Amino acid sequence: MTTTLLTDPDSAHLLASLANRHSVGPKYLTYPAPDLAQLEAAARVASRAPDHGMLRPFRFVLVGEAQRPRLAELFAADAAQRGQDAEAVERARERAFNGPALLAMVVRVRADVPDVPPHEQWLSAGAGLMNLLNALHLMGFAAKVLSGPSVRNPQIAAAFCETDECLSAWILAGTPLHTPAPRGHPNPPPLVSCWD
Ligand SMILES: Cc1cc2nc3c(=O)[nH]c(=O)nc-3n(C[C@H](O)[C@H](O)[C@H](O)COP(=O)(O)O)c2cc1C
Repeated sequence: MTTTLLTDPDSAHLLASLANRHSVGPKYLTYPAPDLAQLEAAARVASRAPDHGMLRPFRFVLVGEAQRPRLAELFAADAAQRGQDAEAVERARERAFNGPALLAMVVRVRADVPDVPPHEQWLSAGAGLMNLLNALHLMGFAAKVLSGPSVRNPQIAAAFCETDECLSAWILAGTPLHTPAPRGHPNPPPLVSCWD
């Protein structure tokens, strides 16, 4: 195995790019969207997340263009069930058309694996999500992870999940209209400390 360190220009460039990844909201995402092959490639990177017990606790479901109206009806019904007014129901319906590509992230956390408690499986799913976002970023796309009440609606969850799965988030992806400005603390405190 060859070791690439920061002195390797390619590796330094990739690390700098990953260190500057930022989410881009749906208003600033345009076409082209990642196509199925690109999403599959990003999901392969996601699948390299550490996975104790090889449980594969997550998967992604693409909501294609033809399926958006069906999701829009589910979003509208959810908003109506939550007692939202007509305008808010319309806004909820329109959200199904946000994001040039729209994925649902589905997580299965098993309770019957004593060596791999639920928090480890959630960590693995989170790592998979991050790997997916980083892969899309390195391909030149941008994305935003959103949840909101829709992921907790039983009818919407049932449309994507088996009974032992959890609809965890929506991932909206596309081409960024601009390079997102760096956010966060300009001088972040150290995240690694030495045990003494
Ligand atoms: C599972 C999950 C769900 C999220 N849901 C929302 C959401 O509903 N609304 C929102 O504004 N941000 C949400 N976020 C946060 C954004 O995706 C994003 O991380 C945040 O705006 C910070 O941007 P950054 O990724 O550039 O640091 C969620 C993040 C995760 C991991």
